Amino acid sequence: MIHPIAYCILPTILLLVAVRKYRESKWGKCKNKVKLDGKIALVTGANSGIGFEIAKELAARNAQVILACRSLKKAQSSADKIKKLLFNNPTLVPMELDLASLKSVKLFSEMVKEKFSEIHILINNAGVAYPKSQRLQTADGFEMHFGTNHLGHFYLTNLLESLVANGKGRVVVVASSLHEKGKLDIKAIQSLEFEDRENLYANSKLANVYFAQEFAKRSKDKGIKVYAICPGWVYTSLFRYSFKWYHLIMVAPVAFFFMRSAKQGSQTAIYCATEPSLENETGFLYRDCKKYNSKAIFYDKLATELWDESQNMVNAIMK
Ligand SMILES: NC(=O)c1ccc[n+]([C@@H]2O[C@H](COP(=O)([O-])OP(=O)(O)OC[C@H]3O[C@@H](n4cnc5c(N)ncnc54)[C@H](OP(=O)(O)O)[C@@H]3O)[C@@H](O)[C@H]2O)c1
Ligand SMILES: *[C@@H]1O[C@H](CO)[C@@H](O)[C@H](O)[C@H]1NC(C)=O
Repeated sequence: MIHPIAYCILPTILLLVAVRKYRESKWGKCKNKVKLDGKIALVTGANSGIGFEIAKELAARNAQVILACRSLKKAQSSADKIKKLLFNNPTLVPMELDLASLKSVKLFSEMVKEKFSEIHILINNAGVAYPKSQRLQTADGFEMHFGTNHLGHFYLTNLLESLVANGKGRVVVVASSLHEKGKLDIKAIQSLEFEDRENLYANSKLANVYFAQEFAKRSKDKGIKVYAICPGWVYTSLFRYSFKWYHLIMVAPVAFFFMRSAKQGSQTAIYCATEPSLENETGFLYRDCKKYNSKAIFYDKLATELWDESQNMVNAIMK
């Protein structure tokens, strides 16, 4: 005899799964099958989460992929993992890049320039998120989120701009819809004076979006296309510094409906890197494999200011 409760449990589970499937269908999938033979791609933070999935997919499409990771060891093991998962024997180039050190960014770019003369796809993906209470700095003394998520990529992109221009390449900036909660206060960034519990991660993601807009303007004539994306809420190690086990109980129900796998979270970046119909678009923000209307208000003047100040910060360190 089946217990009557079983009659309730099964439909409930089916309903929950149906809701999850419905949500998944809204997240967007990169549907094109564009092959990337002969193309060179570079992915920062390619050893984990979204970056790993992007690197794997680009390699599956036959691009040569530079895996730029915080240590050579991580890059190497990421390359080994991808090779094992794919059957097309891809060319993967593991390299060391620490975005929290401008010297490392410079050294890395010089090595890339020695090996390659063009880049077709640059994915600025790496990022950190620390608890709000923590006030950390990069090797060069910049606020950690701003320094890693924005400034390191700012410098990297500028150093590699000529290679991307040669490839008439695309640059994908992995931002976040959390940028809508961010603030961009250049003075506070310079003086490292932030209000208590201010969301420095969100601020850095706002800087990412501003950077994408400004770089799109500045590189348009060179044939470079720039796409800022929000991957959605994705199950990765990003929040490992603030995560406690009991959060699991609290977020599990919400996560079940809202949290994407790393592969699902990589779709919009892959879409922007490959989609032929985006060929003439630059400087916009995307989410769920389509254009996204940000709730934030953007000021052109602030975009220029951020650019100039970022340049000054780099100049001060890399005299
Ligand atoms: N997960 C989400 O819900 C979500 C939502 C919106 C946006 N995003 C964005 O998605 C991007 C990827 O994050 P993820 O979720 O995939 O998290 P993740 O699994 O933690 O991956 C982050 C990657 O960035 C690398 N990284 C961190 N600091 C670095 C540094 N100084 N130099 C070089 N690489 C560094 C990490 O390397 P290590 O392994 O060495 O730490 C790792 O490979 C980030 O930009 C994040 O802001 C994520
Ligand atoms: C992009 O612009 C070029 C030149 O104007 C045009 O020939 C091409 O069809 C456009 N591509 C797309 C996908 O709109």
